[in-house]
Amino acid sequence: MNILGIESSCDETAASVIKDGREILSNVVSSQIDIHTLYGGVVPEIASRAHTEAISGVVSEALKPVGGMENIDVVAVTNAPGLIGALLVGVSFAKGLAFSSGKPLIPVHHIRGHVAAAYLAHPELKPPFIALIASGGHSHIVFVEDYTKYRILGRTRDDAAGESFDKAARVIGLGYPGGAKIDSLAKSGDPYAIEFPKVYFKDAPYDFSFSGVKTAVINYAHNAEQAGRELNKADVAASFSRAVCSVLTEKATAAVNDLAESLGAGKRLVVAGGVSANSVLRSYLARSAEKNGFALYLPPLSLCGDNAAMIASQGYYEYLSGNIADESLNAYATKSIEE
Ligand code: KG4
Ligand code: ZN
Repeated sequence: MNILGIESSCDETAASVIKDGREILSNVVSSQIDIHTLYGGVVPEIASRAHTEAISGVVSEALKPVGGMENIDVVAVTNAPGLIGALLVGVSFAKGLAFSSGKPLIPVHHIRGHVAAAYLAHPELKPPFIALIASGGHSHIVFVEDYTKYRILGRTRDDAAGESFDKAARVIGLGYPGGAKIDSLAKSGDPYAIEFPKVYFKDAPYDFSFSGVKTAVINYAHNAEQAGRELNKADVAASFSRAVCSVLTEKATAAVNDLAESLGAGKRLVVAGGVSANSVLRSYLARSAEKNGFALYLPPLSLCGDNAAMIASQGYYEYLSGNIADESLNAYATKSIEE
């Protein structure tokens, strides 16, 4: 079965064709980074317009290897969560395509899609498992009980991990897209130069909070400016990365150690979302997996950020579970992964 996936929830217009949920036949991503760089972040109105301009060409390109819509069985589209105007471009386009070709239309939750990137990278992987999801809008530890059944074990109480990378990058003048820029600058800095805060909750060991570390970076930069000291940006980037990535690693590790057995999830951790591209996080998680004896499923760098292959993969499993939409399908800026 061939699934066409369409993704437009933020700043990438993407389309992909996946066979049987696991095999990538095409994967086209058109990034808007150049446009938004001018403004230091994603401008929602501009994103919607850029999606509108790109979507037709991106979908045509993705369809080329299979010959066209006649060889597509199902159309899957991200309909939540994300920038509402951006989501609506993909949803409207997918609706038109599905109903003009008579193919089923499948709504896909964007964060469920990120988890499904693991199915593409690791063909033997099947739920149940525990997943750490760290993206620009979400930081979750979830129990993926089945392909379409999720339970949140921990979540951020304020900023998402990716959001904190983006904000820290802005404060020290690196600009957009912040996560990748902090990641590369951190390589030349000292991760132990500055002690940035890490937050733990007694009653919720798998919950996160990243607003404190962001504020600490702001204060550190201000203090340096007021004292006339030159900011060592590489040390800030490295120390910030250590604070955020060690908390993500510790709490995900604790969830696997504490809960994997009782949940019947297997001693393993699946990692998903844009922040899973981070080199510090990847090395901390690898070290923890070795030390604690769990299997680690990291997505390849090509599937960490937003793409439509992961949407088509999840779309396949949503289709199998009967989650089929009609022409009234809408887009939603927020929606829980559990719904
Ligand atoms: O999953 P994603 O592409 O989009 C959302 O669903 O939000 O995640 C984007 C987030 C951004 O906050 C970006 O700064 C962060 O992922 N990110 C990174 C890296 N690459 C992307 N954060 C840290 N290190 C990276 N290498
Ligand atoms: Zn995403």
